Amino acid sequence: MIEIKSWIGIPLLALLFCSTITTTKEGVKVVSQSAPDVKLVDVVKTFDGSIEVVDHLNLDIPSGGYVALLGPTGCGKTTVLRMVGGLLAPEAGEIQFSQPSSQTAFCFQEPRLLPWRNVRRNVGLPLELAGQHDFDQAVQEVLGLVGLTDAAERMPAALSGGMKMRTSLARALVSNPKLLLLDEPFGALDEVTRFRLDEDVARLVRGRDTTVLMVTHSISEAVFLADEVVVLSPRPARIVERFRIDLGERLPELRATPEFALMTSKIYEALRAAMGEPA
Ligand SMILES: Nc1ncnc2c1ncn2[C@@H]1O[C@H](COP(=O)(O)OP(=O)(O)OP(=O)(O)O)[C@@H](O)[C@H]1O
Ligand SMILES: [Mg+2]
Repeated sequence: MIEIKSWIGIPLLALLFCSTITTTKEGVKVVSQSAPDVKLVDVVKTFDGSIEVVDHLNLDIPSGGYVALLGPTGCGKTTVLRMVGGLLAPEAGEIQFSQPSSQTAFCFQEPRLLPWRNVRRNVGLPLELAGQHDFDQAVQEVLGLVGLTDAAERMPAALSGGMKMRTSLARALVSNPKLLLLDEPFGALDEVTRFRLDEDVARLVRGRDTTVLMVTHSISEAVFLADEVVVLSPRPARIVERFRIDLGERLPELRATPEFALMTSKIYEALRAAMGEPA
């Protein structure tokens, strides 16, 4: 296991957008072989010396696994994600990766597209930043996967909210990340578009060699996508309960099954209890 408590040497430009980065502690570009196993061991984070945000958090995201974090607003979910991505250092405890480097992609709530670049050039940005010149084919492939082939030459201003998020997702996936960090990526979209994008994520990410940590406020999104749903307490974030999701293939009809309804209601109860609401 490699400890990366102080692993914050990520290019600033890459962080401003939903992009993929390849780095090591020394800042050297490398190609990693497989998805990392990520462990948070007794992680503590406090802001400004007094705002306790994460309280001895222990979490294991297995290689190729998909973990969703659910919790009240302001409890520390984004902070956890930022620490796993190396954007923030924990104050105590460790974040361990099963290998010394990882290709990490972030996807934020807003699409963060560059308005002066068309879809194709936005999606190709992480490869360009990584010094790759010949990336047209990789971009075309990922645009095909997210259903944006016909929009490749369009500018962001001419896209719908859903198309912008698809572009953002394509940009996160274009360099085949081994660790994907999703922070409420579809939170601003209508339910139908969100369902469709969740189905895209399930199709694109599941079965790939990618470890995923996602933050969401949607219980049904968490159940639809994740192998494990972790319910966090109000700030400072502690694990209240974890749910293993064994619901087989993530097809749209899954949402209408009694098993899906039962799991979402169990998690809803856990979340209510975590927020101190009466049963
Ligand atoms: N850089 C910072 N400096 C000081 N306080 C911070 C900083 N970042 C976050 N916080 C505080 O830490 C707490 C947790 O923030 P965080 O963004 O992790 O919550 P969250 O669970 O993602 O919330 P939401 O569901 O609303 O997105 C909040 O009280 C927030 O104000
Ligand atoms: Mg947040």
